[in-house]
Amino acid sequence: MFGLIKRWKALEAKGIMGINRRNADYVLKYNKRHLYPIVDDKIITKERAILAGIHVPELYGIISTEKEIEKFDEIIAGRSDFVIKPAQGAGGDGILVIADRFEGRYKTVSGKIVTQEDIEHQLSSILTGLYSLGGHRDRALIEYRVTPDPIFKSISYEGVPDIRIIVLMGYPVMAMLRLPTRQSNGKANLHQGAIGVGVDLATGLTLRGTWLNNKISKHPDTTNAVDGVQLPNWDGFMKLAAGCYELCGLGYIGVDMVLDQEKGPLILELNARPGLNIQIANDCGLTHRAHAVEARIAEFAKNDVTESVEDRVRFSQQLFGHVKPAEI
Ligand SMILES: Nc1ncnc2c1ncn2[C@@H]1O[C@H](COP(=O)(O)OP(=O)(O)O)[C@@H](O)[C@H]1O
Ligand SMILES: [Mg+2]
Repeated sequence: MFGLIKRWKALEAKGIMGINRRNADYVLKYNKRHLYPIVDDKIITKERAILAGIHVPELYGIISTEKEIEKFDEIIAGRSDFVIKPAQGAGGDGILVIADRFEGRYKTVSGKIVTQEDIEHQLSSILTGLYSLGGHRDRALIEYRVTPDPIFKSISYEGVPDIRIIVLMGYPVMAMLRLPTRQSNGKANLHQGAIGVGVDLATGLTLRGTWLNNKISKHPDTTNAVDGVQLPNWDGFMKLAAGCYELCGLGYIGVDMVLDQEKGPLILELNARPGLNIQIANDCGLTHRAHAVEARIAEFAKNDVTESVEDRVRFSQQLFGHVKPAEI
């Protein structure tokens, strides 16, 4: 307990942002209520992204009622891998990642065998709202299963790692790579047991990580170092994330992206209340960076101008890189 308090105090000095400040000064201030459905419903996010020309995993179909569960076979159309998820889910709950078929059944990424009845039961649970925010009735979406780029082979265990970037008013402020572990069942959500690894905004080089609230430098399953890995196409990810401000209109978001082996960078989802553990992974607080962005916006607002996606990314990379541009 004492250790935790000590660590928290040290982080406070680094400008760590707590949950109350995040809610009052960022989520409530920058995220207009009427825009929430765009990010809280993954089907709506997908539709918006497609309209904006942003790539997302292909939607195979939607199941909205019990009756429609019988359309499932038609939706997957003989495919042997796909993902089922609640449109309004969070934290990786209720997501089923099917990697293969096996003698009339299905196999998840971690090798668990799933029957047709299990799938129908899962769909039905999603519809009743078991996984949705506030327990409201929900829809199930069935989509393309992402195959991670081979770059992640040595530092990930099954499943798909994702890249989370926190974006304030269109400016990226902090990034983290999340790596599935044996424990997280193919999902990259920290509370499912995935690892969070900080990423240098300037270069896309990974830093050290956090796992179950401890600092780590090796993946617990593969034992390979998680730091010093160069994420490919880093500027592309930064621009993709920054552009999500124009896509959804929300001023404070967590953008989750993946790197598919064939399709390249894809947006997985947007979060209106992104978690604060990213600060532990980066060993750095959000507060100072957020203030720097707010000061920048205030300055531009005086002259009634805004910056382009490219300019915003450049600003963030120059200011928030762990390695300063002069040292690169
Ligand atoms: N289409 C997909 N293909 C493979 N894995 C996926 C897919 N969608 C989600 N996942 C895995 O599940 C995790 C959570 O998915 P996400 O869409 O972000 O939902 P949530 O809101 O529950 O976090 C992802 O980080 C990824 O590891
Ligand atoms: Mg997510």
